[in-house]
Amino acid sequence: MREFHIREVPPGTDWVFETVHEFEKATTIELMGEDLAISAEWNRNSHADEKDALKGMLMALDGPAPTDGPVGRFGLPLVPAERVDVLGVIEVTFPTTDNQHLADDVYCQVDPDARRAGVGTALWREVVRITGDLGRDTVIAWSDHAAGGPGDGDRLRARDGDDELPLDRASRFAQSLGLSLAQVERQSRLALPVPPEQLAALRAEAEGRALPAYRIESWVGRTPAEHLDRIAVMNRTLSTDAPLGEVDWQPEDWDAERVRHSDERKHLTGHSVISIAIEDATGEVAGLTEIHVHDSHPHRPEQWITAVAGPHRGHRLGLLLKAVNLQLLAADQPGARYVDTWNAGENDHMLAINTRLGFRPHSAHGAWQLKQTDA
Ligand SMILES: CC(C)(COP(=O)(O)OP(=O)(O)OC[C@H]1O[C@@H](n2cnc3c(N)ncnc32)[C@H](O)[C@@H]1OP(=O)(O)O)[C@@H](O)C(=O)NCCC(=O)NCCS
Repeated sequence: MREFHIREVPPGTDWVFETVHEFEKATTIELMGEDLAISAEWNRNSHADEKDALKGMLMALDGPAPTDGPVGRFGLPLVPAERVDVLGVIEVTFPTTDNQHLADDVYCQVDPDARRAGVGTALWREVVRITGDLGRDTVIAWSDHAAGGPGDGDRLRARDGDDELPLDRASRFAQSLGLSLAQVERQSRLALPVPPEQLAALRAEAEGRALPAYRIESWVGRTPAEHLDRIAVMNRTLSTDAPLGEVDWQPEDWDAERVRHSDERKHLTGHSVISIAIEDATGEVAGLTEIHVHDSHPHRPEQWITAVAGPHRGHRLGLLLKAVNLQLLAADQPGARYVDTWNAGENDHMLAINTRLGFRPHSAHGAWQLKQTDA
Protein backbone atom coordinates (compact mmCIF):
# COMPACT_ATOMS: atom_id res chain seq x y z
CA MET A 1 0.00 0.00 0.00
CA ARG A 2 1.36 3.41 -0.93
CA GLU A 3 2.24 5.64 2.03
CA PHE A 4 1.24 9.26 1.72
CA HIS A 5 -0.02 12.10 3.90
CA ILE A 6 -1.98 15.33 3.54
CA ARG A 7 -0.61 18.83 4.05
CA GLU A 8 -2.09 22.29 3.70
CA VAL A 9 -0.82 25.21 1.67
CA PRO A 10 -0.24 28.31 3.79
CA PRO A 11 -1.27 31.62 2.17
CA GLY A 12 1.56 33.15 0.18
CA THR A 13 3.16 29.87 -0.99
CA ASP A 14 4.08 30.64 -4.56
CA TRP A 15 5.22 27.41 -6.22
CA VAL A 16 1.93 25.56 -5.76
CA PHE A 17 0.15 27.56 -8.46
CA GLU A 18 2.43 26.26 -11.22
CA THR A 19 1.83 22.74 -9.89
CA VAL A 20 -1.96 23.17 -9.85
CA HIS A 21 -1.81 24.62 -13.35
CA GLU A 22 0.09 21.55 -14.56
CA PHE A 23 -2.45 19.25 -12.85
CA GLU A 24 -5.31 21.14 -14.51
CA LYS A 25 -3.69 21.10 -17.90
CA ALA A 26 -3.18 17.33 -17.71
CA THR A 27 -6.68 16.73 -16.30
CA THR A 28 -8.49 18.80 -18.94
CA ILE A 29 -6.50 17.16 -21.74
CA GLU A 30 -7.33 13.76 -20.22
CA LEU A 31 -11.04 14.50 -19.78
CA MET A 32 -11.80 16.92 -22.63
CA GLY A 33 -9.00 16.35 -25.13
CA GLU A 34 -7.83 19.98 -24.88
CA ASP A 35 -5.99 22.28 -22.49
CA LEU A 36 -8.69 24.23 -20.62
CA ALA A 37 -6.61 25.11 -17.57
CA ILE A 38 -6.87 28.53 -16.00
CA SER A 39 -3.56 30.32 -15.62
CA ALA A 40 -1.34 29.99 -12.57
CA GLU A 41 -1.52 33.77 -12.30
CA TRP A 42 -5.31 33.79 -12.11
CA ASN A 43 -5.30 31.16 -9.37
CA ARG A 44 -2.50 32.92 -7.47
CA ASN A 45 -4.52 36.16 -7.43
CA SER A 46 -7.69 34.34 -6.48
CA HIS A 47 -6.06 32.61 -3.49
CA ALA A 48 -4.38 35.85 -2.39
CA ASP A 49 -7.78 37.54 -2.10
CA GLU A 50 -9.65 36.45 1.03
CA LYS A 51 -11.94 39.48 1.33
CA ASP A 52 -15.12 37.47 0.74
CA ALA A 53 -13.97 33.88 1.23
CA LEU A 54 -11.22 31.75 2.79
CA LYS A 55 -9.32 29.86 0.12
CA GLY A 56 -8.08 26.41 1.02
CA MET A 57 -5.67 24.13 -0.79
CA LEU A 58 -4.52 20.72 0.46
CA MET A 59 -1.91 18.48 -1.14
CA ALA A 60 -1.05 14.80 -0.82
CA LEU A 61 2.67 14.07 -0.57
CA ASP A 62 4.57 10.78 -0.60
CA GLY A 63 5.73 9.18 2.64
CA PRO A 64 4.75 9.50 6.30
CA ALA A 65 3.45 12.74 7.83
CA PRO A 66 6.12 14.82 9.61
CA THR A 67 6.08 14.32 13.37
CA ASP A 68 7.07 17.88 14.13
CA GLY A 69 7.15 21.22 12.34
CA PRO A 70 4.56 23.91 11.83
CA VAL A 71 0.83 23.24 11.56
CA GLY A 72 -1.45 25.54 9.53
CA ARG A 73 -4.81 27.19 10.12
CA PHE A 74 -6.65 24.01 9.06
CA GLY A 75 -4.70 21.87 11.54
CA LEU A 76 -2.45 20.12 9.00
CA PRO A 77 1.33 20.15 8.47
CA LEU A 78 2.41 22.77 5.95
CA VAL A 79 3.78 22.08 2.47
CA PRO A 80 7.46 23.01 2.17
CA ALA A 81 8.34 26.53 0.98
CA GLU A 82 10.17 25.02 -2.02
CA ARG A 83 8.60 22.92 -4.74
CA VAL A 84 8.14 19.18 -4.09
CA ASP A 85 6.40 16.37 -6.01
CA VAL A 86 2.67 16.23 -5.35
CA LEU A 87 0.39 13.18 -5.64
CA GLY A 88 -2.89 15.05 -5.53
CA VAL A 89 -4.49 18.39 -4.80
CA ILE A 90 -7.88 19.57 -3.59
CA GLU A 91 -9.11 23.16 -3.56
CA VAL A 92 -12.01 24.60 -1.55
CA THR A 93 -13.59 28.01 -0.99
CA PHE A 94 -15.27 28.97 2.29
CA PRO A 95 -17.45 32.06 1.66
CA THR A 96 -17.37 34.55 4.55
CA THR A 97 -19.60 37.42 3.36
CA ASP A 98 -22.59 35.15 2.70
CA ASN A 99 -23.22 31.42 2.33
CA GLN A 100 -21.37 30.76 5.56
CA HIS A 101 -22.82 27.24 5.65
CA LEU A 102 -20.80 26.22 2.56
CA ALA A 103 -17.55 24.63 1.54
CA ASP A 104 -17.84 25.59 -2.12
CA ASP A 105 -16.14 24.85 -5.43
CA VAL A 106 -14.31 21.75 -4.21
CA TYR A 107 -12.24 20.15 -6.96
CA CYS A 108 -9.96 17.17 -6.48
CA GLN A 109 -7.24 15.96 -8.85
CA VAL A 110 -4.91 13.01 -8.41
CA ASP A 111 -1.83 12.22 -10.50
CA PRO A 112 -2.68 9.27 -12.79
CA ASP A 113 0.24 7.27 -11.32
CA ALA A 114 -1.17 7.67 -7.79
CA ARG A 115 -4.80 6.76 -8.45
CA ARG A 116 -6.89 4.03 -6.78
CA ALA A 117 -4.69 4.27 -3.70
CA GLY A 118 -7.07 6.33 -1.56
CA VAL A 119 -5.39 9.69 -2.21
CA GLY A 120 -8.57 11.38 -3.50
CA THR A 121 -10.58 10.00 -0.60
CA ALA A 122 -8.02 11.18 1.97
CA LEU A 123 -7.98 14.71 0.49
CA TRP A 124 -11.77 14.79 0.44
CA ARG A 125 -12.08 13.58 4.05
CA GLU A 126 -9.84 16.41 5.23
CA VAL A 127 -12.06 18.95 3.45
CA VAL A 128 -15.14 17.46 5.13
CA ARG A 129 -13.39 17.53 8.51
CA ILE A 130 -12.35 21.19 8.07
CA THR A 131 -15.86 22.11 6.93
CA GLY A 132 -17.26 20.72 10.18
CA ASP A 133 -14.51 22.37 12.26
CA LEU A 134 -15.53 25.72 10.70
CA GLY A 135 -19.14 25.12 11.77
CA ARG A 136 -20.38 24.59 8.20
CA ASP A 137 -22.66 21.81 7.04
CA THR A 138 -22.67 21.68 3.21
CA VAL A 139 -19.95 20.76 0.72
CA ILE A 140 -20.30 21.37 -3.04
CA ALA A 141 -17.86 19.68 -5.42
CA TRP A 142 -17.54 19.59 -9.21
CA SER A 143 -16.81 16.94 -11.81
CA ASP A 144 -16.08 17.37 -15.54
CA HIS A 145 -17.13 15.06 -18.38
CA ALA A 146 -16.78 15.26 -22.15
CA ALA A 147 -20.23 15.23 -23.77
CA GLY A 148 -21.00 11.60 -24.54
CA GLY A 149 -17.81 10.78 -22.65
CA PRO A 150 -16.72 7.36 -21.46
CA GLY A 151 -18.55 5.43 -18.81
CA ASP A 152 -19.95 1.97 -18.60
CA GLY A 153 -23.15 2.90 -20.38
CA ASP A 154 -25.10 3.95 -17.31
CA ARG A 155 -26.04 7.61 -17.13
CA LEU A 156 -26.89 9.80 -14.15
CA ARG A 157 -29.53 12.50 -13.93
CA ALA A 158 -30.10 15.16 -11.30
CA ARG A 159 -33.60 15.85 -9.98
CA ASP A 160 -34.17 18.65 -12.51
CA GLY A 161 -33.54 18.72 -16.25
CA ASP A 162 -32.80 16.11 -18.90
CA ASP A 163 -29.02 16.51 -19.14
CA GLU A 164 -27.02 13.48 -18.02
CA LEU A 165 -23.56 12.55 -16.78
CA PRO A 166 -21.71 9.36 -17.66
CA LEU A 167 -21.14 7.00 -14.75
CA ASP A 168 -17.39 7.33 -15.20
CA ARG A 169 -14.42 7.55 -12.84
CA ALA A 170 -15.32 10.99 -11.46
CA SER A 171 -18.98 10.06 -10.90
CA ARG A 172 -18.02 6.80 -9.20
CA PHE A 173 -15.52 8.64 -7.04
CA ALA A 174 -18.17 11.18 -5.97
CA GLN A 175 -20.65 8.42 -5.24
CA SER A 176 -18.06 6.52 -3.20
CA LEU A 177 -17.79 9.61 -0.97
CA GLY A 178 -21.55 9.69 -0.37
CA LEU A 179 -22.13 12.80 -2.48
CA SER A 180 -25.44 13.28 -4.27
CA LEU A 181 -25.77 14.77 -7.75
CA ALA A 182 -27.48 18.14 -7.10
CA GLN A 183 -27.35 19.56 -10.63
CA VAL A 184 -25.95 18.91 -14.11
CA GLU A 185 -24.42 21.90 -15.89
CA ARG A 186 -24.02 22.04 -19.64
CA GLN A 187 -21.00 23.69 -21.19
CA SER A 188 -21.81 25.08 -24.62
CA ARG A 189 -19.42 26.47 -27.20
CA LEU A 190 -19.93 29.14 -29.84
CA ALA A 191 -17.56 29.07 -32.82
CA LEU A 192 -16.25 32.52 -33.77
CA PRO A 193 -16.60 34.64 -35.74
CA VAL A 194 -20.39 34.62 -35.74
CA PRO A 195 -21.38 35.99 -39.18
CA PRO A 196 -21.93 39.73 -38.53
CA GLU A 197 -25.21 39.74 -40.47
CA GLN A 198 -26.54 36.97 -38.20
CA LEU A 199 -25.75 38.94 -35.02
CA ALA A 200 -27.20 42.11 -36.56
CA ALA A 201 -30.44 40.30 -37.45
CA LEU A 202 -30.85 38.85 -33.95
CA ARG A 203 -30.09 42.23 -32.43
CA ALA A 204 -32.66 43.96 -34.66
CA GLU A 205 -35.30 41.36 -33.80
CA ALA A 206 -34.71 41.82 -30.06
CA GLU A 207 -34.59 45.60 -30.33
CA GLY A 208 -38.05 45.46 -31.91
CA ARG A 209 -39.37 44.12 -28.60
CA ALA A 210 -37.12 45.87 -26.08
CA LEU A 211 -36.78 49.44 -27.37
CA PRO A 212 -37.57 52.19 -26.51
CA ALA A 213 -38.60 51.07 -23.00
CA TYR A 214 -35.05 49.88 -22.35
CA ARG A 215 -31.61 51.10 -23.37
CA ILE A 216 -28.35 49.12 -23.50
CA GLU A 217 -25.05 50.42 -22.15
CA SER A 218 -21.79 48.57 -22.75
CA TRP A 219 -18.15 48.86 -21.77
CA VAL A 220 -14.83 47.03 -21.91
CA GLY A 221 -12.81 46.83 -18.70
CA ARG A 222 -13.69 47.95 -15.18
CA THR A 223 -17.26 48.95 -14.33
CA PRO A 224 -17.82 52.72 -14.61
CA ALA A 225 -18.61 54.22 -11.17
CA GLU A 226 -22.19 55.12 -12.14
CA HIS A 227 -22.99 51.44 -12.81
CA LEU A 228 -21.43 49.79 -9.72
CA ASP A 229 -24.74 49.67 -7.82
CA ARG A 230 -26.53 48.28 -10.87
CA ILE A 231 -24.02 45.41 -11.20
CA ALA A 232 -24.38 44.70 -7.47
CA VAL A 233 -28.17 44.42 -7.87
CA MET A 234 -27.80 42.04 -10.82
CA ASN A 235 -25.17 39.87 -9.11
CA ARG A 236 -27.46 39.50 -6.14
CA THR A 237 -30.39 38.64 -8.41
CA LEU A 238 -28.41 36.10 -10.38
CA SER A 239 -27.06 34.35 -7.30
CA THR A 240 -30.44 32.72 -6.74
CA ASP A 241 -32.52 33.44 -9.86
CA ALA A 242 -30.76 30.98 -12.14
CA PRO A 243 -32.08 27.44 -11.59
CA LEU A 244 -30.18 25.85 -8.71
CA GLY A 245 -31.39 22.27 -8.84
CA GLU A 246 -30.77 20.87 -5.37
CA VAL A 247 -27.66 23.00 -4.82
CA ASP A 248 -28.00 24.85 -1.51
CA TRP A 249 -26.72 28.28 -2.56
CA GLN A 250 -28.19 31.19 -0.62
CA PRO A 251 -28.40 34.78 -1.97
CA GLU A 252 -25.04 36.50 -2.26
CA ASP A 253 -24.53 39.81 -0.53
CA TRP A 254 -23.27 42.28 -3.17
CA ASP A 255 -22.72 46.01 -2.87
CA ALA A 256 -20.85 48.56 -5.00
CA GLU A 257 -17.60 48.06 -3.07
CA ARG A 258 -17.68 44.29 -3.63
CA VAL A 259 -18.22 44.84 -7.36
CA ARG A 260 -15.29 47.26 -7.48
CA HIS A 261 -13.07 44.82 -5.58
CA SER A 262 -14.02 41.87 -7.78
CA ASP A 263 -13.40 44.03 -10.88
CA GLU A 264 -9.90 44.90 -9.66
CA ARG A 265 -9.02 41.24 -9.17
CA LYS A 266 -10.35 39.92 -12.46
CA HIS A 267 -8.64 42.74 -14.36
CA LEU A 268 -5.21 41.73 -13.09
CA THR A 269 -5.10 38.90 -15.67
CA GLY A 270 -7.69 39.82 -18.30
CA HIS A 271 -10.62 42.08 -19.07
CA SER A 272 -14.40 41.90 -19.23
CA VAL A 273 -16.79 42.95 -21.98
CA ILE A 274 -20.09 43.93 -20.36
CA SER A 275 -23.54 45.06 -21.47
CA ILE A 276 -26.41 46.04 -19.20
CA ALA A 277 -30.05 46.87 -19.89
CA ILE A 278 -31.57 49.89 -18.14
CA GLU A 279 -35.27 50.64 -17.94
CA ASP A 280 -35.48 54.10 -19.43
CA ALA A 281 -38.33 55.43 -17.30
CA THR A 282 -36.81 54.50 -13.92
CA GLY A 283 -33.08 54.11 -14.55
CA GLU A 284 -33.42 50.68 -12.91
CA VAL A 285 -31.09 47.90 -14.06
CA ALA A 286 -33.00 45.17 -15.89
CA GLY A 287 -30.29 42.84 -17.17
CA LEU A 288 -26.59 42.08 -17.41
CA THR A 289 -24.24 39.96 -19.49
CA GLU A 290 -20.47 39.57 -19.17
CA ILE A 291 -17.81 37.95 -21.35
CA HIS A 292 -14.34 37.62 -19.85
CA VAL A 293 -11.14 37.53 -21.91
CA HIS A 294 -8.14 35.96 -20.14
CA ASP A 295 -4.72 37.36 -21.08
CA SER A 296 -3.32 33.81 -20.91
CA HIS A 297 -5.78 32.37 -23.47
CA PRO A 298 -7.55 35.18 -25.33
CA HIS A 299 -8.57 32.78 -28.12
CA ARG A 300 -11.29 31.32 -25.87
CA PRO A 301 -13.22 34.06 -24.06
CA GLU A 302 -15.73 32.88 -21.46
CA GLN A 303 -19.36 33.91 -21.37
CA TRP A 304 -19.98 34.48 -17.68
CA ILE A 305 -23.18 35.63 -16.06
CA THR A 306 -26.26 36.66 -17.95
CA ALA A 307 -29.35 37.68 -16.01
CA VAL A 308 -32.58 39.50 -16.63
CA ALA A 309 -34.40 40.57 -13.45
CA GLY A 310 -37.81 38.94 -12.92
CA PRO A 311 -40.03 42.00 -13.55
CA HIS A 312 -38.22 42.72 -16.82
CA ARG A 313 -38.42 39.29 -18.45
CA GLY A 314 -40.32 38.70 -21.70
CA HIS A 315 -38.89 41.71 -23.60
CA ARG A 316 -36.11 39.83 -25.43
CA LEU A 317 -33.52 41.52 -23.19
CA GLY A 318 -31.51 38.30 -22.81
CA LEU A 319 -31.08 37.90 -26.57
CA LEU A 320 -30.46 41.63 -27.05
CA LEU A 321 -27.79 41.81 -24.36
CA LYS A 322 -25.95 38.77 -25.66
CA ALA A 323 -26.09 39.87 -29.32
CA VAL A 324 -24.79 43.35 -28.46
CA ASN A 325 -22.05 41.95 -26.26
CA LEU A 326 -20.90 39.48 -28.95
CA GLN A 327 -20.69 42.39 -31.41
CA LEU A 328 -18.53 44.22 -28.90
CA LEU A 329 -16.37 41.12 -28.39
CA ALA A 330 -15.88 40.77 -32.17
CA ALA A 331 -14.45 44.31 -32.25
CA ASP A 332 -12.37 43.76 -29.09
CA GLN A 333 -10.99 40.27 -29.93
CA PRO A 334 -11.13 39.71 -33.69
CA GLY A 335 -8.76 36.73 -33.33
CA ALA A 336 -10.87 34.80 -30.77
CA ARG A 337 -11.87 31.31 -31.94
CA TYR A 338 -14.76 30.37 -29.67
CA VAL A 339 -16.72 31.36 -26.57
CA ASP A 340 -17.49 28.84 -23.81
CA THR A 341 -20.41 29.15 -21.43
CA TRP A 342 -21.94 27.10 -18.60
CA ASN A 343 -25.64 26.80 -17.80
CA ALA A 344 -27.89 24.62 -15.71
CA GLY A 345 -29.16 21.80 -17.93
CA GLU A 346 -32.73 22.75 -16.97
CA ASN A 347 -32.31 26.47 -17.78
CA ASP A 348 -34.50 26.23 -20.90
CA HIS A 349 -34.83 29.97 -21.54
CA MET A 350 -31.10 30.66 -21.43
CA LEU A 351 -30.26 27.55 -23.44
CA ALA A 352 -32.81 28.54 -26.12
CA ILE A 353 -31.17 31.96 -26.48
CA ASN A 354 -27.73 30.35 -26.65
CA THR A 355 -28.91 27.94 -29.34
CA ARG A 356 -30.23 30.83 -31.45
CA LEU A 357 -26.85 32.55 -31.17
CA GLY A 358 -25.13 29.37 -32.36
CA PHE A 359 -23.87 27.78 -29.10
CA ARG A 360 -23.70 23.97 -29.19
CA PRO A 361 -23.38 21.48 -26.27
CA HIS A 362 -19.74 20.66 -25.59
CA SER A 363 -19.31 19.05 -22.17
CA ALA A 364 -21.17 18.25 -18.95
CA HIS A 365 -20.36 19.14 -15.35
CA GLY A 366 -21.74 17.67 -12.16
CA ALA A 367 -22.47 19.73 -9.05
CA TRP A 368 -22.23 17.22 -6.23
CA GLN A 369 -23.39 17.99 -2.72
CA LEU A 370 -22.86 16.57 0.73
CA LYS A 371 -24.91 17.72 3.69
CA GLN A 372 -23.02 16.93 6.88
CA THR A 373 -26.19 15.37 8.18
CA ASP A 374 -25.80 12.85 5.29
CA ALA A 375 -22.18 12.05 6.17
C1 LIG B 1 -11.55 11.16 -9.53
C2 LIG B 1 -10.16 11.13 -8.87
C3 LIG B 1 -9.96 12.42 -8.06
C4 LIG B 1 -10.10 9.91 -7.92
O1 LIG B 1 -8.87 9.93 -7.20
P1 LIG B 1 -8.28 8.57 -6.53
O2 LIG B 1 -7.17 8.97 -5.63
O3 LIG B 1 -7.98 7.58 -7.61
O4 LIG B 1 -9.54 8.08 -5.69
P2 LIG B 1 -9.55 6.94 -4.55
O5 LIG B 1 -8.39 6.02 -4.71
O6 LIG B 1 -9.69 7.60 -3.24
O7 LIG B 1 -10.89 6.17 -4.95
C5 LIG B 1 -12.03 6.15 -4.09
C6 LIG B 1 -13.17 5.38 -4.78
O8 LIG B 1 -13.63 6.11 -5.93
C7 LIG B 1 -14.09 5.15 -6.93
N1 LIG B 1 -13.22 5.25 -8.11
C8 LIG B 1 -12.10 6.02 -8.25
N2 LIG B 1 -11.57 5.84 -9.48
C9 LIG B 1 -12.33 4.94 -10.12
C10 LIG B 1 -12.29 4.31 -11.41
N3 LIG B 1 -11.30 4.59 -12.28
N4 LIG B 1 -13.25 3.43 -11.74
C11 LIG B 1 -14.24 3.12 -10.88
N5 LIG B 1 -14.33 3.65 -9.62
C12 LIG B 1 -13.40 4.55 -9.26
C13 LIG B 1 -13.96 3.79 -6.30
O9 LIG B 1 -15.16 3.53 -5.60
C14 LIG B 1 -12.79 4.03 -5.32
O10 LIG B 1 -12.75 3.11 -4.26
P3 LIG B 1 -11.96 1.69 -4.49
O11 LIG B 1 -10.63 2.00 -5.12
O12 LIG B 1 -11.85 1.13 -3.10
O13 LIG B 1 -12.83 0.88 -5.42
C15 LIG B 1 -9.04 10.95 -9.93
O14 LIG B 1 -9.37 9.87 -10.80
C16 LIG B 1 -8.80 12.17 -10.78
O15 LIG B 1 -7.98 13.02 -10.43
N6 LIG B 1 -9.54 12.30 -11.91
C17 LIG B 1 -9.46 13.51 -12.76
C18 LIG B 1 -10.04 14.73 -12.03
C19 LIG B 1 -11.49 14.58 -11.66
O16 LIG B 1 -12.31 14.03 -12.38
N7 LIG B 1 -11.84 15.19 -10.52
C20 LIG B 1 -13.22 15.33 -10.08
C21 LIG B 1 -13.55 14.47 -8.93
S1 LIG B 1 -15.27 14.67 -8.40
